[in-house]
Amino acid sequence: MKILLTGGAGYIGSHAAVVLSQAGHEVIIFDNFSNSSRSVISRLENILNKKIVCIEGNICDFALLENAIQKNQIEAVIHFAGLKAVGESNAKPLEYYANNVQGTISLLQAMQATGVKKIIFSSSATVYGAPKYSPIDEEYPLSATNPYGRSKIFIEKILQDLAISDQSWSIVCLRYFNPVGAHESGLIGEDPEGIPNNLMPYLAQVAIGKLAKVYVFGDDYQTLDGTGVRDYIHVMDLAEGHLAALAYACRQTGFEAINLGTGKGSSVLEIIKGFEVASKKTIPYEIVGRRFGDVAVCFAKADLAKKKLGWSAKRDLSDAFKSAWKWQNLEGK
Ligand code: NAD
Ligand code: UD1
Repeated sequence: MKILLTGGAGYIGSHAAVVLSQAGHEVIIFDNFSNSSRSVISRLENILNKKIVCIEGNICDFALLENAIQKNQIEAVIHFAGLKAVGESNAKPLEYYANNVQGTISLLQAMQATGVKKIIFSSSATVYGAPKYSPIDEEYPLSATNPYGRSKIFIEKILQDLAISDQSWSIVCLRYFNPVGAHESGLIGEDPEGIPNNLMPYLAQVAIGKLAKVYVFGDDYQTLDGTGVRDYIHVMDLAEGHLAALAYACRQTGFEAINLGTGKGSSVLEIIKGFEVASKKTIPYEIVGRRFGDVAVCFAKADLAKKKLGWSAKRDLSDAFKSAWKWQNLEGK
């Protein structure tokens, strides 16, 4: 199939581009490179050993999208494009709503105008707010503690309304837990600008000596070692989840929201120890106070993905650490 990947040059989209392309699909990337590098395209071409069509543009540009869909005879869209930094969303809510919500409406209008009615959307476990228990299933009530999270909930609701209004749409919202790791080549990976907010890219930068130490946000939670527990999922497993969701969208119409997680939680200290083994480096850390808004434990109930998509995560965390370390060591990215 010919698939448009909005945000396809980003962390998750680039890994999905590899998996989809290797499964025989033709991927067309649409990205404004606001949070990714143009060099990702040539690195993808290197991994795949073929040319990739890439359109530089903003999803808010309806005419450009409409043209891109028509010209490339797109049959389905996987919508990764969006801003994703929680702290920044508190400071710049309008930017987040314009980019994420308005951008998605513009994309949906372009799809409607061209008769393309299959979409996979990058949602997030953030739509569960501060969950009171884990594992979290898809029926857990939605809430958000910041504009980023709210933008994901608004988009899910818009997609749900669209599916009700026109039953020929196939819409799958994938609620990602914590993606980590990189492609085994080490040529693509997570590349945050400035000081990372998330644990994995932060500790990778400590391991390589760019940052001095990891600050562990609290060791007084009701968990095995007192540190926060999350569901870390290998980005290649996540990418394969999109292939399964695309197949699902081809055989099913309507709206579906599905968790993509492993169903298992790991603590901050377990992650640090695991990365030490993979990198053969000592990672200095200091226990500090809890981060505002954090919950003790958050991991997925992953049964629905297995049931509906026939997908489950296969790789273990040591693979994720090894690939992330290889990526961290890549020169000139
Ligand atoms: P990313 O920032 O690496 O990739 C997003 C891509 O979208 C970037 O290449 C960026 O340049 C592009 N983009 C942003 N706004 C755009 C616009 N208006 N027009 C065109 N392109 C635009 O992020 P990621 O980690 O790959 O995340 C992909 C999606 O998954 C996002 O929607 C994010 O909210 C969601 N998500 C990510 C995580 C995570 O931890 N990485 C977790 C849950 C959900
Ligand atoms: C983050 C996002 C959330 C998104 C989720 C999945 C924030 C505030 N939240 O949450 O919206 O849905 O990823 O991708 O960005 N930690 C440290 N030290 C650090 C960084 C993190 O101890 O320097 C701890 C945290 O307290 C937490 C764990 O590591 O227990 C994971 O943190 P992080 O990588 O930021 O992910 P989430 O908090 O799950």
